[in-house]
Amino acid sequence: MSCRDYDTTAANAASLISNFLGLSHSMVLRLLPAGDSLLLQGGVGWKTGLVGHAVFDTNRNTLTGFALSSTDPVIIENLRTESRFAIPAPLLGYGLVSGVCIRIPCQYQSFGVLAGFSTEQRSFNQDDLSCLRAMAGMLAVSSGCQRTGEVRREDQEKIAQAKQEWEATVDALPHFICLLDEQKHIVRANRSLEQWVPGPIGDVRGHTVHELLHPGCHDPSCYMSTCDVVWNEVLSGRYAEFEVEVKVLKRHLSIQVRPTTRCSAIGMKRTSMAVVVLQDITKIKHAEEVLKRSKDQLEHLIQLRTAELVLANEKLKCEIVERQLIEEELRRSENELRLLSAQLLTAQEMERKRIASELHDGIGQSLSAIKFCMENALGRWAPQPHDQDVKLIKSIIPRMQTAIDEVRRISMDLRPSTLDDLGIIPTIAWFCREFRSIYSNIRLDAHIDVAENDVSVPLKTVVFRIMQEALNNIVKHAKAEYALVHLQKIDSAIELLVQDDGVGFDINSLAHRKRSDKGFGIVGMRERAEFSGGTFFIMSNNKTGTLIRTSWPCRH
Ligand SMILES: Nc1ncnc2c1ncn2[C@@H]1O[C@H](COP(=O)(O)OP(=O)(O)OP(=O)(O)O)[C@@H](O)[C@H]1O
Ligand SMILES: [Mg+2]
Repeated sequence: MSCRDYDTTAANAASLISNFLGLSHSMVLRLLPAGDSLLLQGGVGWKTGLVGHAVFDTNRNTLTGFALSSTDPVIIENLRTESRFAIPAPLLGYGLVSGVCIRIPCQYQSFGVLAGFSTEQRSFNQDDLSCLRAMAGMLAVSSGCQRTGEVRREDQEKIAQAKQEWEATVDALPHFICLLDEQKHIVRANRSLEQWVPGPIGDVRGHTVHELLHPGCHDPSCYMSTCDVVWNEVLSGRYAEFEVEVKVLKRHLSIQVRPTTRCSAIGMKRTSMAVVVLQDITKIKHAEEVLKRSKDQLEHLIQLRTAELVLANEKLKCEIVERQLIEEELRRSENELRLLSAQLLTAQEMERKRIASELHDGIGQSLSAIKFCMENALGRWAPQPHDQDVKLIKSIIPRMQTAIDEVRRISMDLRPSTLDDLGIIPTIAWFCREFRSIYSNIRLDAHIDVAENDVSVPLKTVVFRIMQEALNNIVKHAKAEYALVHLQKIDSAIELLVQDDGVGFDINSLAHRKRSDKGFGIVGMRERAEFSGGTFFIMSNNKTGTLIRTSWPCRH
């Protein structure tokens, strides 16, 4: 094989490698006789003038030297981050990212390096590497011809074997690959078309791609006419790629056309004009359609859901406004109710006071006067013959005293007059005395650590009523042995504490009681405390009994 022939072989090899592996740049480097440099003999993607002239280093510290001395293919994932060797200067400035290099073996020494690069990060699988090995083998065999100047029988066999391997590799690819001459006639093709077209294909050489894909089509507006545009691109040395739907084959195809002339070394013999790679992208297209349909459905659903959400949002806004109005109304009603309750308590207290004084000053005074008169009359009565009558009248006097005491008790129960006449301290003392005399089974301690003036007049009634109800509850429910009443001034607050050591109760159970079972004592205590500006706290359990603490800020 002549040197020029080998240029053509190298150029075609570079072009095929670029097309089959989808690489933007490829090159065939030949080791020069001195053994210290490699010549770029054929390539794709390099600036004009580089092919046939550029030389690369054989030093092991460089990519080309490293590849030349490696028996396995050298894969570079990212040229920018590669640390095993330096990237040769001629490769810089093309934006190359990933690449693969393989030694072209020879009988006595390496013949050179076959390499390909991409401008995007990519990996290389076993098929890619087999393809490269086959091509390197073919180049090696061709180089043998150049070295000896004659095609030996052994080499012919190797060429035939390499050609076979190469054809098997190309046939195994799922793409339809063919080389076209100047008339767009197929010069060489792999067998992938057999998978697409029904029936035997026969020899495709001399046919056009259009004839193969559209047998018998004479329609001038056929989509394949776009090939003319593409062909013009190819003739101008540019790469073209487009997609078509081939209705006859019921397939979508991606068609790539790359001129072979660009990759040729100067003076090469042009056996082909272009490499065409047809890829079946039907599945991808269908997947895209399914994806698009799902996307449209999803968008439709999102629109519906968004509309629903907007509606729900509007409804919610209306509900919020309504709720705010209701809450405002409720607050107003609550305030009114609070006011009414406070008024009710005041009215109740006044009424009690009125009835108590009526009882005390009216019936009580009258009964006392009647008793006094009867005692007087009896004193002046001379010994009488009718002793029975005197006895009868005398027996009325203690009953009248009982009635007088009863009226006083009822009157005091309704509202102790001492509260208005003497104040809270004597009233508490009186109430506790009464309590001890009646309920001797409960030991009651009372501590008063406030001055009379510390408690305002309206607060005196409140303090008394809360203490009264708390002690009544101890009698009614607590089964207590001990009770404590403590009225004290702590910092700037008046605090009333009523505590027992009784059985206690579950405060939460009060809320679940039947309406008819509900008492008003605790509710009343809380209301009285809060209406008078104080706070009410109750704690109860069966171990420590019940504790009620009410406190009011001190008046200044
Ligand atoms: N010191 C206490 N010890 C144990 N249980 C108590 C004590 N104080 C209140 N209770 C429990 O709390 C309940 C509610 O008390 P509250 O004073 O509100 O109502 P009442 O005493 O049952 O009825 P009213 O006070 O209206 O006459 C009581 O029925 C009782 O079960
Ligand atoms: Mg009660």
